Amino acid sequence: MSTSAMTNPDTERRDALVGRLFEAAIGTLDVFSIYVGDRLGLYQALADRSSATSSELAAATGTHERYVREWLEQQAATGILEVEDAQLDATARRYRLPAGHREVLLERDSLNWLGGLLRLAVGATRPLPALLRAFREGGGVPYPDYGPDTLEGIAEMNRPMFLNLMGTAWLPAVPDLHARLQADPPARVADVGCGAGWSSIGIARAYPKAQVHGFDSDEASISLARANAVTAGLTERVTFAVRDAAYPGLAGGYNLVTAFETIHDMAQPVEALRKMRDLVADGGVVMVADERVGDQFTAPGDDIERLNYGFSVLHCLAVGMADSPSAGTGTVMRPPTLRRYAAEAGFRAVEVLPIENDFWRFYRLVP
Ligand SMILES: C[S@@+](CC[C@H](N)C(=O)[O-])C[C@H]1O[C@@H](n2cnc3c(N)ncnc32)[C@H](O)[C@@H]1O
Repeated sequence: MSTSAMTNPDTERRDALVGRLFEAAIGTLDVFSIYVGDRLGLYQALADRSSATSSELAAATGTHERYVREWLEQQAATGILEVEDAQLDATARRYRLPAGHREVLLERDSLNWLGGLLRLAVGATRPLPALLRAFREGGGVPYPDYGPDTLEGIAEMNRPMFLNLMGTAWLPAVPDLHARLQADPPARVADVGCGAGWSSIGIARAYPKAQVHGFDSDEASISLARANAVTAGLTERVTFAVRDAAYPGLAGGYNLVTAFETIHDMAQPVEALRKMRDLVADGGVVMVADERVGDQFTAPGDDIERLNYGFSVLHCLAVGMADSPSAGTGTVMRPPTLRRYAAEAGFRAVEVLPIENDFWRFYRLVP
């Protein structure tokens, strides 16, 4: 009997899954150990010098040498850092951050920076006991319970896109809007579910006349957004307020109303979209950016589906279910779902804008 005839497909699948999950477990440990280096400033301190020993790095970062030595060995073993001479005594070894890794781990403005995504992956695991309870009993896990790593992780993950692409690729895709944002009288923009405010800041930076009002229901996010506007020197033109998206007290007449990666998190997305429709001026634009998932469920899914389902199971669905009643959307909001929400909110049509992006799809909702 040939070897292939003896192969048991169940055994092959078992072995493949063992291999895959073993790699995934190591990857998970990589993510958490990178988080340690990010939060303690270890990568930055390494980048500030050509190389360092464990005691030099500990002294530079105010950390304990024994822990730092273990972290350095782990980082070198897993291929993130380099060691100059592995044969030396452990305390004499010098470690360095390879030039090609610097951008990925430290350059916050770069589209290749993954610090935000990794911080979010750690944050999404914070309220696991509450998540298990929600699975058993229903209800959800309120957004603030996910803590600062999630809030900051989301903000930092999206920030490079907002600052690099808003005025160069995204809003220019609607030429009339692009022109209006540069014209007088100054255009007014409402940014719904603005989180830590980088989308609002990105719009104001790209269009030096525009007045931007960011709204979010999360107080910690709005505090951070206000601080970010101060740092960006944009407080004259960018303001933030704690508001639910469906809050009826918001005044209208906006030339642009945006919602970046937030509709799928809302317990009541139809009410939010209805309010966005009220907020937009005649001739204005309502733009929603949300996950670039497929039109329909397929399994196995591609990396975008896996990423978004992962965040949905751990975070977004539970956040959306924390309020009642809830549409229970989850991260994987497919185009037909958004079209249904938009129709229920009174929009006449939904167009997909010709904007290339691996992660998000951009919709224009026509009032
Ligand atoms: C995934 S975060 C995106 C934040 C920001 N737009 C960005 O892209 O960085 C989703 C945001 O939606 C906000 N949010 C959820 N439900 C909301 C509601 N009903 N009204 C206003 N904001 C809401 C959350 O507080 C959170 O800041």
